[in-house]
Amino acid sequence: MPSYAIIGAQWGDEGKGKITDYLAEKADVVVRFQGGDNAGHTIYANGHKFALHLLPSGSIRPHTLNILGNGMVINPVSLSLEIKTLKGVGLTPTIAISNRAHVILPHHIEKDKENEKTQNIGTTLKGIGPAYMDKVGRTGLRMGAFVNEALFEAYLRNDQTHDLTEEKIKALLDTYAPFQKELAPMVQDTSYLLSEAFKKDQFILFEGAQGTLLDIDHGTYPYVTSSATSAAGIPQGAGVSPKQIQKVLGVVKAYTTRVGEGTLVSEMNEELAHQIREKGNEYGTTTGRPRRIGYLDLVALKHAHRVNQFDALILTLFDVLSGIHPLKLVIAYDYHGTRLDTFPAEPEILAECTPIFETLEGFDEDLSTLSDYNQLPQAAKLYLKAIEKHTGIPVGMISVGKHREQTLRMTNIL
Ligand code: GDP
Ligand code: IMO
Ligand code: MG
Repeated sequence: MPSYAIIGAQWGDEGKGKITDYLAEKADVVVRFQGGDNAGHTIYANGHKFALHLLPSGSIRPHTLNILGNGMVINPVSLSLEIKTLKGVGLTPTIAISNRAHVILPHHIEKDKENEKTQNIGTTLKGIGPAYMDKVGRTGLRMGAFVNEALFEAYLRNDQTHDLTEEKIKALLDTYAPFQKELAPMVQDTSYLLSEAFKKDQFILFEGAQGTLLDIDHGTYPYVTSSATSAAGIPQGAGVSPKQIQKVLGVVKAYTTRVGEGTLVSEMNEELAHQIREKGNEYGTTTGRPRRIGYLDLVALKHAHRVNQFDALILTLFDVLSGIHPLKLVIAYDYHGTRLDTFPAEPEILAECTPIFETLEGFDEDLSTLSDYNQLPQAAKLYLKAIEKHTGIPVGMISVGKHREQTLRMTNIL
């Protein structure tokens, strides 16, 4: 059975949730391996809209095991709320939480807010960066210790870094007692669980959060998140071998969006951006912030491909481009008269790059009702062909709407 990685190929919000839920129809296990509730994965299914932040997008399917891997940072309060929300509509997903995943506590969120006053990254203010700082600084709290009353209390009492007074410790112990009880039965060695799943030859999906351009190493540093969002994050963040990932699928929007600060070379004028934002409902799932909009940036996409080696692209929100004339692809950057074909590492250089476009004809047809690739208008087919030509990656699937059935498979690569 296959194991697929579903990786964001841009700056997040590519539609990973929709695609993971779609592919989860046949999956046995869905695994998150990094990030926390900074993620917002939207799924429309069974007549409901779901916004998942911590739970893997297999949680809407009744048959999947959903793993929150060791590479995640978990806010227990958010997780409990998400579980409750699903229960409210009759869903009780099977969930396993890694005992090695780190815990987000209130002081991480306070620190995130404090840092933002001077750093201005435009974070989601969920405490993600500070929780990962504690992890790599070896002062973090892991889920295994969190759900053990004595170990949690000992952690708080031994803490030297968060200025915890007796009063604060008491309040934390009281606040978290119900969450410890609720989550304890789910906390286990998920790397072991995965090794058993592989032994049974089960179908496993690794669901990325954020996108490759937000990767701590390969993204637009410092305007990135604090985890490894590319496929390289999977072995480390799930406790599997790199050899166990069979295919890496890159989820890419038909255009570009970004929330938070940092340069977006392909950014459109506000009039066109507004049109796409309203049609594509481009507002953050987690923070509600309007997303910045740009043309599809193939320099960034090729960079993501170099890092991930995508077996196929899954192109999403293609329907939103109907009525946009002309369509443009960013095929290179111009940096003070020099053509750049590779994505620069330095934010100062990126900030001074301007896009070099390839211009294509647009289309007016409504794609959202199509059920077969062959029904696509010629201009839409040529847009896909141009992406394939420039990147060398086959487009394996396209999404033409937010619902499961609005998904077209183009090759049998999946
Ligand atoms: P994720 O973070 O990568 O899971 O993406 P988000 O859920 O944050 O953002 C993607 C948005 O686009 C959500 O509102 C989805 O419901 C929606 N969406 C996904 N695929 C499509 C599509 O093909 N067409 C349209 N119109 N909306 C889509
Ligand atoms: P999904 O999984 C889009 C962005 C924030 C900010 C930067 C750092 O839904 O694709 P953080 O709170 O992680 O320290 O913020 O990363 N960001 C996202 N942008 N989609 C996401 O997740 C994001 N998660 C974080 O806006 O610019
Ligand atoms: Mg999102």
